[in-house]
Amino acid sequence: MPRMTVNDQPVEFEMDPDTPLLWALRDAANLTGTKYGCGQGDCGACMVIVDGEALRSCLITISEAEGRFVTTIEGLSRDRSHPVQQAMVAEQAIQCGFCTPGIVMAGAALIAKNADPSRKDIEQAIPNLCRCGVYPRLVRAIERAGRVARRRETISSAPAPGISAEDAAREVPALAVPDSGTTSD
Ligand code: FES
Ligand code: FES
Repeated sequence: MPRMTVNDQPVEFEMDPDTPLLWALRDAANLTGTKYGCGQGDCGACMVIVDGEALRSCLITISEAEGRFVTTIEGLSRDRSHPVQQAMVAEQAIQCGFCTPGIVMAGAALIAKNADPSRKDIEQAIPNLCRCGVYPRLVRAIERAGRVARRRETISSAPAPGISAEDAAREVPALAVPDSGTTSD
């Protein structure tokens, strides 16, 4: 059964090895922050970070993710404090929000490698589709996140989650720290 590390937790998925990583994350690990949009690699809603690269989780199987380090939106930060999250909020780059987790993960992978990206860099690194059309705000948000990452700017306007991690874990089991690192359903 494919084993990997998801959000710093060792995980073994007792599933068909050909299962797309997206399904395993959402259905078995209950990490539903990763969204199912098109299921065929077009929209980017399912993006997660695998060994530092933003990848569409609908396009890789859990056997292909074997032994790799996977980070989902739930693992990026517990308190929405990542510069990309802060900047997306501050620039009002979130409308319905369905595309947002995938965009944040693609943006986080970009900023980790290049905290001063050009607009072309941003467009290439974040090809995600957004039906709400937040693209100009998205570019501004990633540029701003880069400034935050470079310590050229701080953002004080990002709101607190408004719910404690413990309360959230009661409502959303995926946020809970598991008793063991094995996921078996
Ligand atoms: S759901 Fe994976 S790219 Fe659209
Ligand atoms: S904010 Fe609605 S799809 Fe992007």
